[in-house]
Amino acid sequence: MKGIILAGGSGSRLYPLTLTTSKQLLPVFDKPMIYYPLSLLMQAKIKDILIICLPRDLKAYETLFGDGSSLGLNISYVVQDKPDGIAQAFVLGESFIARDSVCLVLGDNVFFGHHLESLMQESSQHEEGALVFGYEVRDPSRYGVIDFDENYKVKKVVEKPKDPPSNYAVTGLYFYDEQVASFAKQLKPSHRGELEITDLNQMYLEKDQLRVRLLDRGFAWLDTGTHDSLHKASSYVQTIQERQGVQIACIEEIAYRNGWINLAQLEVLANRVSSSDYGAYLIKFLEKSHVLCKN
Ligand code: DAU
Repeated sequence: MKGIILAGGSGSRLYPLTLTTSKQLLPVFDKPMIYYPLSLLMQAKIKDILIICLPRDLKAYETLFGDGSSLGLNISYVVQDKPDGIAQAFVLGESFIARDSVCLVLGDNVFFGHHLESLMQESSQHEEGALVFGYEVRDPSRYGVIDFDENYKVKKVVEKPKDPPSNYAVTGLYFYDEQVASFAKQLKPSHRGELEITDLNQMYLEKDQLRVRLLDRGFAWLDTGTHDSLHKASSYVQTIQERQGVQIACIEEIAYRNGWINLAQLEVLANRVSSSDYGAYLIKFLEKSHVLCKN
C-alpha cells in the first residue's frame, strides 16, 4: 500500500498565518502539522509516500523531509497548482499509485488514540473497495456526513449538508483500492469547482464497495482549520504529552520502532533538533534504547 498526504489548499481560514506558508507546516504545539498525518502512514507501515503541495511550498517540504531516506521512507512530491479538490490527489498521483492500493490522509488532520497503530495496520490490509471512518461531531455541517438507514447501513454520503442527516462526519483518512485513479478521473467538478472526495466515496458506495468504520470515543480527531481549533489542538497535544511523558507523532521514534533506521541514524536525527524539548525527548529515547540494546 502507498500513502498520499494532501498538503495544498489556500488555508484562507487561517489568514494571515498562511499568507506566506503552507497551513500543514504550521505548528501543532511542538512540531509541524504534517508530522501528524505522516506518523499515521508510518504507523500503518507505509513507506512509499507522496506529498502533494502548492508550488510555493515545495522547497520547504523538500527541505524538511528530503527523499525521506533518513527516516527509512521513500518520499516523493507533486505540486497541485490550485485547490481543485481533494479527489484530484488521485489524478495527480496516478503514476505514483500505479496498481497498488492507497491511503490518503489530509495534511491538516490530527488523530490520537491508543489503538491508532492497530487501526492503521488493520486498515492497510484493506485491498478491495474503499474504507472511510466516521466520527461523531457536534457540528457535522462542516464535513462530509454519513446518512444511515434504520439498520445503520450507509445510504449516502453528503458534503457539508445544511441539514445533516446524522452527526457522523467522514474524517480525512481514506483507504482505496487500485480503481481509485480511474474513478477520480470520471468525477465532474462540483458547484464549488472541486473534485469532491465525497463524490468519489459516493461512487464507491453506489457500486456497493464503500465500507464505513465508526471511530469510538477512544479516538480523538482534532480540527485545525481555524485559529481557535488550531490553538485547541496544540493545547490538547501539550496536555497529553506533558501528562504521559510520551510524544504524539514523533516520526523519528516511529521510524526506529518500525526497524527502518538504526540507533546511529536515530542519533543523527536527534542531534539535528537537540536544542528543543522535542530533541531532548529523542535523546532520552535514544539513551533508553541504547541500554535496552546492551541488555
Ligand atoms: O477533514 C475532513 C473533511 O475534509 C471531510 O469531512 C470532507 O468531506 C472533505 O471535503 C474535507 O472538508 P474540508 O472543508 O476540511 O476540506 P478543505 O478544503 O479544508 O481541505 C482539507 C485539506 O486538504 C486541507 O489541508 C487542504 C487540503 N486540500 C484541499 C483541497 C480542496 C488540498 O491540498 N487541495 C485541495 O484541492
